[in-house]
Amino acid sequence: MTQPVPRPSGPAGLRALRALLRERTPLAAMQVVHRELGDVFQLPLPGFHPVVLVGPEAARFVLVEARGDLRWRNEPDPVTRLLRHGILVEDGDSHDDLRRLMSPSLHKQLLVDYVGTMWRAARQITQPWGTLAGVDMLVEMRRITLLILMETLFRVDFAPDMQRLWDPILTSIGYISPGLWVLWPGIPRPQYRAAIDRIDAYFLALIRARQAAMPTQDETPRDMLSLLIDAGLDDHLIRDQLLTMLIAGHDTSTALLAWSLYLLGSHPEALARARSEVAQALPDPNHFDAPCMDALNNLPYLGQVIKEALRLYPPIHMGSRVAAIDLEFKGYHIPAGERVVYSIYLTQRSPDHWPDPERFDPERHAPGQHPEAYAWLAFGGGPRNCIGAAFGQLEVKVVLAYLLSHFDLTLTYPHIHQHMGATLEPRPGVRMLARRL
Ligand code: HEM
Repeated sequence: MTQPVPRPSGPAGLRALRALLRERTPLAAMQVVHRELGDVFQLPLPGFHPVVLVGPEAARFVLVEARGDLRWRNEPDPVTRLLRHGILVEDGDSHDDLRRLMSPSLHKQLLVDYVGTMWRAARQITQPWGTLAGVDMLVEMRRITLLILMETLFRVDFAPDMQRLWDPILTSIGYISPGLWVLWPGIPRPQYRAAIDRIDAYFLALIRARQAAMPTQDETPRDMLSLLIDAGLDDHLIRDQLLTMLIAGHDTSTALLAWSLYLLGSHPEALARARSEVAQALPDPNHFDAPCMDALNNLPYLGQVIKEALRLYPPIHMGSRVAAIDLEFKGYHIPAGERVVYSIYLTQRSPDHWPDPERFDPERHAPGQHPEAYAWLAFGGGPRNCIGAAFGQLEVKVVLAYLLSHFDLTLTYPHIHQHMGATLEPRPGVRMLARRL
């Protein structure tokens, strides 16, 4: 006998509402509901009533065991409307074919070639900071990650177009961020059209210019854009993949960099330790164009800080699916057509799986510590885990190593809250004073 998924009662709902107002994030409200109802519950909002699943067992269910019966694509969602047939919102063979096509550009063996681009992008964006600057790291990190993404995957120098496309990119991200459409799915949103059209025009021009310039003889290695063209995809399908990569591949690392800097800035002992580790591994940071992999591998503590930032503030804080058939999990009935969400955020802050879960403690990820499988799942899991997981972690490590080896950083405005946009972001930003060393 299965039972219906529990929903919060009136008093629990009120407690959740109070947490929402206090912490200024719906995630705090969901934490209250999770504490009261356990690992399976349903949000009772009008127009939006996902079944929320929490914990390693739930993650394994969604990501592995029942994955064939859970669809990614949800036609009315803005993310599907924006990315159209991008890999992120495709299912079945069409997804698998795209994944096979795009994986080689993000293969671990290729990453070593990207380190130079990552290092130089950090240098290029921080150059105008001079000797002393007050900067918002949320903004600055986006500039760096945009340069990196466009150069590594599409061999495009994005600097000349950055200013022109900045607002359209932020508007497109706003289009897929939670808003009124969550409660009112069909709400007209014409204000986003012009920005999305500008991005489409940019990508279509890029694709056509590359098609015109592509050499016929073998040129190795191919970047992702060339691989997509070689495979014979039509221009619009290529546009969908480029936009997917642009958004999934830079908004996440931007948030992760900003949160890592916020955590370092608010934990001086961790900052000092990370800095001294970087100073030892990269003793002469002005005298090379890219750190070597050996040096980067000598930054284990920085790696632990990044993992802990990903635990506390996972940029993608949940994965959303739609049940294709009636499902059962832990004795609960999930009817076909229901939205099912696995919560990365609640799992990674669950006291059942992490002692003292709200505390920032990079030691949790020290060598020899192995978190329970699926208790840390910042990159999802199973066959559709994050295709850019290795790329993103390397990128964040290289950029942080650059910043720590060139600047003394002080957090100047610590009062931030967790903003649920397309990614989980520190708002109003991460303001720091950067003093050049
Ligand atoms: C650095 C921080 C990043 C985080 C925390 C992150 C997180 C995630 C998560 C959790 C998923 C799975 C979502 C789900 O199960 O619903 C995912 C999928 C994906 N990510 Fe990332 N990601 C990051 C960086 C990147 C980068 C750098 C790229 C591309 C260069 C990328 C491209 C993608 C794509 C295309 C998918 C969909 C994969 C598929 O469906 O086969 N991500 N990411």
